[in-house]
Amino acid sequence: MNWESEQDQKVQRVEELIGAYLPAEEGYQRTVLEAMNYSIRAGGKRLRPMMMYETYRMYTECDGSAGEPDDMVIAPFLAAIEMIHTYSLVHDDLPAMDNDEYRRGRKTTHVVYGEGMAILAGDGLLTHAFYTAARAFSAAKDAAERVSLTSPAGDASLCGRIGRAIGILAEKAGTDGMLGGQCVDVEAEKRGETVTMEQLLFIHEKKTAALIQSALMIGAVLAGAPEEDVARLERAGRHVGVAFQIRDDILDVEGSLEELGKQTGSDAKNNKKTYVTLVGMEQAKQDVERISGAALHELSKLSRSNDFLAELVRRMVYRTS
Ligand code: IPE
Ligand code: IPE
Ligand code: MG
Ligand code: MG
Ligand code: MG
Repeated sequence: MNWESEQDQKVQRVEELIGAYLPAEEGYQRTVLEAMNYSIRAGGKRLRPMMMYETYRMYTECDGSAGEPDDMVIAPFLAAIEMIHTYSLVHDDLPAMDNDEYRRGRKTTHVVYGEGMAILAGDGLLTHAFYTAARAFSAAKDAAERVSLTSPAGDASLCGRIGRAIGILAEKAGTDGMLGGQCVDVEAEKRGETVTMEQLLFIHEKKTAALIQSALMIGAVLAGAPEEDVARLERAGRHVGVAFQIRDDILDVEGSLEELGKQTGSDAKNNKKTYVTLVGMEQAKQDVERISGAALHELSKLSRSNDFLAELVRRMVYRTS
């Protein structure tokens, strides 16, 4: 099977797992539930859940030992991270932020449902993400019933890992993660020319890399990976995320609405200082390659390997969508 078909298959599997956790569109509050599902169902590359799933599989698949947690424990986290990522996009597109009209090939949530409802849909996705992640505890209980035949201690340690994973998700999404990066991004628009490389790297590291770090770390933590690997995945995720955001800045200049599903020129429109405006297009492209190389180096030193994950990172350098 070629790489693209393998990727399609993996995206489909992730979509199935995520789909099971989307809220039912019913009740008097139905509109907000529809608005939440509108943005999630619009599609997207599903990179974060895919990276989480692949990292998890890297530690659970090859030893096949009895009592390993199964998909039902990771599945709520795949849905949760995509909900948080999607909320960040819904709010990022609002008139008060980047003021964009297209996302994932569709009109943005606020264009379709109005600003108030888009704010609530973002809030709803964020809250529902943690409700969903917490459902891993009941999945662990079910798993423990199966496991208890061989390992009565399985439940306690798995619950500990789930608790830690929820903490990582909150930390990397919040003020010391994505939200913190968005804060400095919004303020940087006003600072224009005075934005330094150090500040821009802070923005990229927080607004984009933090969630990617959480994807890799949560996959590893839930699978019970060694601590050195969790630390290494945090470093790898920083490189992956920064390279990914630089490529996003490049595509805002060179990409197309058809491929990206969002309008280009958004950064220029908002007078945003980006990696491209700071160092120029050629340097930016070289840096994506260099930083992705650093990510691959970290991945190659893990105690386990996953060729698909490495190829995913390698392809990010040239991605057009
Ligand atoms: C867009 O993320 C926001 C950035 C961090 C650059 P993606 O490019 O992963 O968006 P989707 O999920 O595929 O729509
Ligand atoms: C946003 O960065 C990253 C988020 C946390 C949403 P951008 O503003 O560059 O993302 P796009 O280009 O709108 O997807
Ligand atoms: Mg933005
Ligand atoms: Mg934006
Ligand atoms: Mg962008």
